[in-house]
Amino acid sequence: MIEVDTIAGMRAQVAGARREGQTVGFVPTMGYLHEGHLTLIRRAREESGLVVVSIFVNPTQFGPGEDFEAYPRDLERDAALAEGAGTDVLFYPPVREMYPDGYATYVTVEGMTAKLCGASRPTHFRGVTTVVAKLFHIVEPDLAFFGEKDHQQLLVIKRMVTDLNLKVTVVGVPTVREPDGLAMSSRNVYLNGSQRAAAVVLSRSLAAAREAFAAGERDPAGLAALVRRMIEAEPLAAVDYVEIYSWPDLADIGRLDRPVLLAVAVRFGRTRLIDNTVLR
Ligand code: PAJ
Repeated sequence: MIEVDTIAGMRAQVAGARREGQTVGFVPTMGYLHEGHLTLIRRAREESGLVVVSIFVNPTQFGPGEDFEAYPRDLERDAALAEGAGTDVLFYPPVREMYPDGYATYVTVEGMTAKLCGASRPTHFRGVTTVVAKLFHIVEPDLAFFGEKDHQQLLVIKRMVTDLNLKVTVVGVPTVREPDGLAMSSRNVYLNGSQRAAAVVLSRSLAAAREAFAAGERDPAGLAALVRRMIEAEPLAAVDYVEIYSWPDLADIGRLDRPVLLAVAVRFGRTRLIDNTVLR
């Protein structure tokens, strides 16, 4: 595995692989890698010649007072894990390489970014689409892999790729979970023991919603209320949102008569966790 921290160095690696006729698969991350990230990297390994992984804690997607400084970082450990999962090139630029003095350009996907996580984190998706557009231009991948754990992010990036006529194919990968159902996340390390035990309520409430849907529930408000009641019954959990939109366009719906995304965000102390399921 080759490690590069400059854009020029990253481009040189891709150019070399292209000369040999290799396809390029790309997994963008913010590091502190876990089994979810490694699953994306293994998928990229199966489907591409050159596997590029980026580790960049992107300041523009964190709001004021969010956890940019505190976000967990461990490059040495990440490098070993990334290599073990089949990474060829690890790209970890410093902030000034991606956002030099005078930086002033942002990519914004409108509409669908105002909902769900965009409602409580109003500048978040602008930061995500900006950095992912930049990374796509630097790496120029054929395939890019994103987790369904961050389902709104996946849909927003697909929208951006379509709207800006980018050549990359975006591949969504199912959420990887702990044995008790908790979606793996770099932020799970913030949870204390009792919060970690309580956090299983996210996946449990989504499973209950899937059961109710399978049993014939077709009222989105009824389904959302069921999920909210289960989460609110957990004393350590504070609901940020429980919402249902059509999938994949995230439009408002009156009945569950087409595929929908049921998504939740819940706070445990200062830690905010998300999870989701698609009902169809
Ligand atoms: P990060 O949170 O590090 O996640 C990197 C990728 O791993 C994302 O595509 C995310 O959906 C995926 N992922 C995280 N947990 C997962 C899980 N349990 N199962 C499957 N996939 C999972 O998402 C970001 O970074 C950033 O916003 C980024 C896209 C890198 C832009 O800065």
